Amino acid sequence: MSTIHEQVTTQPHYALPYRVLSQYLATKERTVEVHATPQEVQQLVNQGYLVRERLFTDDGLAQLRAALDELEARERQGKNVAGRGFGGLFLRHLPDKHPLFCDMVKFEPTLSIARAVLGPLVQIRGFSARISYPNEPSQEVQWHIHQQVISDPLPPFFVHPHGLDCLIYLDELNDANGPLCFLPASHWNTRFHTPTEDFEDKPGQVLVRAPAGSCVIIHSNLWHRALPTTPQGTKRRLIIITYTPTWMKQAPYGVKPENGLTQALLQGGDEEMRELLGVGGYT
Ligand SMILES: [Fe+2]
Repeated sequence: MSTIHEQVTTQPHYALPYRVLSQYLATKERTVEVHATPQEVQQLVNQGYLVRERLFTDDGLAQLRAALDELEARERQGKNVAGRGFGGLFLRHLPDKHPLFCDMVKFEPTLSIARAVLGPLVQIRGFSARISYPNEPSQEVQWHIHQQVISDPLPPFFVHPHGLDCLIYLDELNDANGPLCFLPASHWNTRFHTPTEDFEDKPGQVLVRAPAGSCVIIHSNLWHRALPTTPQGTKRRLIIITYTPTWMKQAPYGVKPENGLTQALLQGGDEEMRELLGVGGYT
């Protein structure tokens, strides 16, 4: 069987050479082959999102679905999937649990775009999934951002919490399944805030509908929500790969399995692998 890396549709490329001004890193010269056009990257910077329709081939999509279904069967039992603000089943630490996701630690179509906007030193902050169901209550997600660490007033040495979330939809994103909804450019607005359990429409909101196998890349602090998966829809499977600079903390969600699959990646891993798994790339 071919690897997931070979099951990606053709994307534009450009080379972005970086040099890390570090006295310690072994590899300072780093050229990123970015899987996007410079214009697409600029739109991601300005507007906080980039929609990549049909990133995966049909075979790739089938592989991803099979892997996620396996984990769902293992973990769903007995779990309440009707959380009020964040409905659905959340699965965490996917690379530690299935070889396909372990293989995606160095997944260039998303990783290279993360490096285009965050720099060459990035880690995977989280690698999760959310599955919502047509016949369960509260299968929606409230307005939120992923780095809720900004204070009012902003301190003089404010550090903007930049991160990138790559949302890979394994099922069609349509009105019955629940579109993604966001406020363009809201990642730059450090003053905007809305309380928990806010599901209301907002001026300027954009609804994203897309075919299965699409990837929506958003800044981690773009205000967004997911509309409910309805009884007219199908199971809605979403994989979320989150990248941040190496020096930010990793996500607090879920329990990292002891002796998970990434242990072997770390033991035999190069400098880049250590950075991606959160144990290098900062001094
Ligand atoms: Fe989110």
